[in-house]
Amino acid sequence: MSETELDRAADDLTGKLGVDVRSGLLAPQKWLPSKWFYDERGSRLFEEITVLPEYYPTRAEREVLEREAGEIARVTGARTLVELGSGSSEKTRLLLDALRAHGTLRGFVPLDVSESALSEAVEAIRADYPGLDVHGVVGDFTEHLSLLPGESPRLVAFLGGTIGNFLPADRVKFLRSVRDVLSEGEWLLLGTDLVKDPGTLVAAYDDAAGVTAEFNRNMLLVVNDRLGADFDPARFRHEAYWDAGNEWIEMRLRAVEDMTVRIPGAGLEVGFLAGEYIRTEISAKFRASGVAGELVESGFSVERWWTDSGKRFGVSLARSRN
Ligand code: SAH
Ligand code: TRP
Repeated sequence: MSETELDRAADDLTGKLGVDVRSGLLAPQKWLPSKWFYDERGSRLFEEITVLPEYYPTRAEREVLEREAGEIARVTGARTLVELGSGSSEKTRLLLDALRAHGTLRGFVPLDVSESALSEAVEAIRADYPGLDVHGVVGDFTEHLSLLPGESPRLVAFLGGTIGNFLPADRVKFLRSVRDVLSEGEWLLLGTDLVKDPGTLVAAYDDAAGVTAEFNRNMLLVVNDRLGADFDPARFRHEAYWDAGNEWIEMRLRAVEDMTVRIPGAGLEVGFLAGEYIRTEISAKFRASGVAGELVESGFSVERWWTDSGKRFGVSLARSRN
């Protein structure tokens, strides 16, 4: 682990995982929150996903940022770029470059629950952007938004379609919480994956090389690591299911046989029947009208809306209003 200086808003991750595992695996439909994918191995696997031929969202969003970063810098004149769920912050460099060229950029505040991904990103960006005030925060964007420093006007970037990983009710709650920490007139840049044919969607979450399957099963290894559990990942099958009614992809881990799993750190023994599954994530897909409606409902005005040339992915630039 590197010695990059980071702020730590998130503590007692093991205790929190224990609470989530108890409530999720004791529920009638078992589920686990998707933030637990991202230990060091999970973050590395996600970076592999972003370059898979089937996983178009990263490339589509990058196309929009390449085309519009200059416009985003001009319209916002941001002095601070905040990034939620920043991961490697690779695409974010397009925004940093444009804001720097525009002459307004002073600080960059990436926030991520994955300490390994964050420290790598912070180190790389400090090296490549001398003079930029880079302030990494290890935290949970559903809990630690009030801790975001930086000079106004701030631009909060939430990329990668990660907004789709919330259930619809939590989504608006989250957008409101972002709106609540912004002053009137500050900015949100939101990336949303769009509804398209199910074949393309399912392939993006179930690639031929099996990287996404490894990523999905990694959550079981995180539970083993942190809570001393004895999940055997080989006994769970990866599935990506398109729920057409809800317009979301559901990631599942399906037990291939009956088994009992011990999870000492959560004080739990959980039985699985063959065919039973754990829901590990939803990834909602959007329509332009839906995104705009939720932004307005959350206290933003939508100033710009762009898609890539293939209309696969949408990016909104919204402004907080009173
Ligand atoms: N923004 C990057 C990464 C997207 S993957 C991109 O567009 O490629 C989702 C990222 O959000 C991961 O880095 C993960 O560690 C982080 N993340 C997931 N849940 C989180 C939470 N509750 N709080 C903070 N970060 C979270
Ligand atoms: N935010 C990403 C998305 O919804 C996360 C992601 C990509 C993901 N591929 C995945 C999560 C596979 C679970 C499994 O697109």
